[in-house]
Amino acid sequence: MIIVTGATGKLGRRTVEHLLARLPADRVGVSVRDPRKAQDLADRGVRVRQGSFDDPASLVHAFEGAEQLLLVSLDRTGDECVTGHRNAVDAAVKAGVGRILYTSQMGASHGSRFQACRDHARTEDLLRATGLPWTALRNGFYASSALHFLEPARHTGRIALPADGPVAWTGHNDLAEATAAILTDEGCFEGPTPPLTGPAALDFDAVAETAAQVTGRPFTRTVVPDDAFREQTLAQGAPAPIADLLLSIFAAARAGEFTAVDPTLARLIGREPAAFRAQLKHAWTQEVR
Ligand SMILES: NC(=O)c1ccc[n+]([C@@H]2O[C@H](COP(=O)([O-])OP(=O)(O)OC[C@H]3O[C@@H](n4cnc5c(N)ncnc54)[C@H](OP(=O)(O)O)[C@@H]3O)[C@@H](O)[C@H]2O)c1
Repeated sequence: MIIVTGATGKLGRRTVEHLLARLPADRVGVSVRDPRKAQDLADRGVRVRQGSFDDPASLVHAFEGAEQLLLVSLDRTGDECVTGHRNAVDAAVKAGVGRILYTSQMGASHGSRFQACRDHARTEDLLRATGLPWTALRNGFYASSALHFLEPARHTGRIALPADGPVAWTGHNDLAEATAAILTDEGCFEGPTPPLTGPAALDFDAVAETAAQVTGRPFTRTVVPDDAFREQTLAQGAPAPIADLLLSIFAAARAGEFTAVDPTLARLIGREPAAFRAQLKHAWTQEVR
């Protein structure tokens, strides 16, 4: 059986759908915080068990019988994040899981400028130390994150953000499909995968051009000094750690940590991954309608 955590979230849920297209439902299970949110999966024959990364015993029960486990990383940072991941890795060992796949990120490294990539590196160390077969999916930066940064500019046409660098923005759906492909071809990657990326790396100058092409309206890109961006983010009510986390994305992008474009994702899904332009068009035209 393949067990997926975070199956009520965007990446986990899409991965489950791609698995169900390839496997009978009784070979798929999910470990979710709130089983009511996965009732439709239970109705389709998927094993649904309650599992919280903050409750190790619940995870051991939820991971029972897993030949493979997809650990979807927590949306937290620092020690709080790594502690949750450690709970899950320890529970996987206790439950006798055969292989652990983990949603890491391209650029994962102890020396990364981006906190999340340092957390991923620490989690990869935990996986390595289990002695179990493991795979770290070095996922490209979500295109949805770029759309989030772009949201204030959507109607004003003014993209005012810190200095950046090219990022290989990558779609959730392509990553989910690739994850299902790796899970159903067990053992095709040991340890970290190559970066699983979209087809091109774009900085926000290029994103502005793309937005203008898609909407037919002008978009301007101005560089906001890091300190001013931090102040703005705090003034909008974000806590200081979040403001610093956001800034660190730009610092890492400037250092080229998310710039590599790699053909592995295309090979796994059997087509060119979605371009940022298509994702922008889809997101903006879908919501405008
Ligand atoms: N590659 C990138 O660019 C990038 C960017 C941002 C984030 N990420 C990482 O990728 C992960 C998946 O992305 P996503 O878009 O699918 O995020 P998402 O939609 O927010 O899904 C996160 C999932 O984690 C579950 N979760 C949260 N806390 C939990 C806990 N204590 N115990 C058990 N489950 C818990 C959530 O459960 P509920 O449904 O109950 O809330 C949800 O299903 C994120 O969590 C983050 O670590 C990657």
